[in-house]
Amino acid sequence: MEFIKVTEQHEPAIALVQLYRPKELNALSPQLMQELRDALQQLDRNDAVRAIIITGNEQAFAAGADIKQMADKSAIDMLLIDQFSTWDQIRKVKKPIIAAVSGFALGGGCELAMMCDMIIASETAKFGQPEIKIGVIPGAGGTQRLTKAVGKAKAMELVLTGRFIGAEEALSYGLVNKVVPVEMYLYEAIQLAKEIVQMSPIAVQLAKEAVNRSFETHLDEGLSFERKNFYLTFASEDQKEGMKAFMERRKADFKGK
Ligand code: HXC
Repeated sequence: MEFIKVTEQHEPAIALVQLYRPKELNALSPQLMQELRDALQQLDRNDAVRAIIITGNEQAFAAGADIKQMADKSAIDMLLIDQFSTWDQIRKVKKPIIAAVSGFALGGGCELAMMCDMIIASETAKFGQPEIKIGVIPGAGGTQRLTKAVGKAKAMELVLTGRFIGAEEALSYGLVNKVVPVEMYLYEAIQLAKEIVQMSPIAVQLAKEAVNRSFETHLDEGLSFERKNFYLTFASEDQKEGMKAFMERRKADFKGK
C-alpha cells in the first residue's frame, strides 16, 4: 500500500490506520480510498482486532477529495469512476472506527471523519465542507451526515458558505466527541478504543449497527431493529458471561462468542 499505513498491534486489539499522502494534505484520491477500503476490510475480518482508529498527521486528517484528479472530469467520467462504491464499502465495516483528527478535515475529509463512529479532535482541527467554493457540493454524504450531526441551520450555513469551523465550535455542535491538546489526540483516541475493546465484540457490533440504523429509518423500524439485535445478544456466551460477572461482582471476560 502506498498511501495507507496500518499498525495492527499498536495496542492490544486496536489497529491504527494512517492516511499517508502528507505532501497533498492527505487528499483522498480514488487510489487512497481503495487502499483504505482494503485495509479496513482486512481488519474487519481479523479476529485479533476489535477497534480501528483512522488518523492523518498533525497538519491534516484529509483536505478533501483530490481536486487535481477531478478538475477535468465530465459528469459521465465521474459516474463511471464510481468512487462512491468504495465509500459504501467502508460504511459497511462492522467494527467500531474512531477518527483521530488534527488539522484539516475538509470536504471528503470531513465526510470521512463523519463516516467514522466517533471523532476525537485536536485543538488544531478544522472541519468544513468547502466544496461550494470550487463550484461543487459535498458528494460523500456531507449534506446528510452533517445535517444529522449539527442540525439544519448550521449545516446549511457551513455547506452554503464553505466556512471552516475549529474544534471547539465543532464540539459545541456535537460534531466531535472530545477536543484535546494536539499532542494528546491520538492518545485520547486510543484510550477510547481501549475502553470499547473490553466489551463483548458481538454486543459492540450489534450496538453500532443499531445506532447507525437510526440514521436510515423511521422510529418504528429503528426500534424493531434495535429489539432484534438486543434479543440476538442473548444468543452469545458473552451475554451469559457479562451478566454472571455482574452478579459475582467481578470484571467480565468477553470471548467474542
Ligand atoms: C488536491 C490538494 C488538496 C486537495 C491540498 N492540496 N488540498 N491537492 N486536492 N483537496 C495540495 C495543494 O495543492 C498543495 O500542493 C499542498 O496540498 C498543500 O496545500 P496548500 O494549499 O499549499 O496549503 P495551505 O495554503 O496551508 O492551505 C490548506 C488548505 C487548502 C486550506 C487545506 O489546501 C485547500 O483549500 N484545499 C482544498 C480544500 C477543499 O476544497 N476540499 C474539498 C475538495 S472537494 P502543491 O503541490 O500545489 O503545492 C471534495 C468533494 C468530496 O472533497 C466528494 C467526495 C469524495
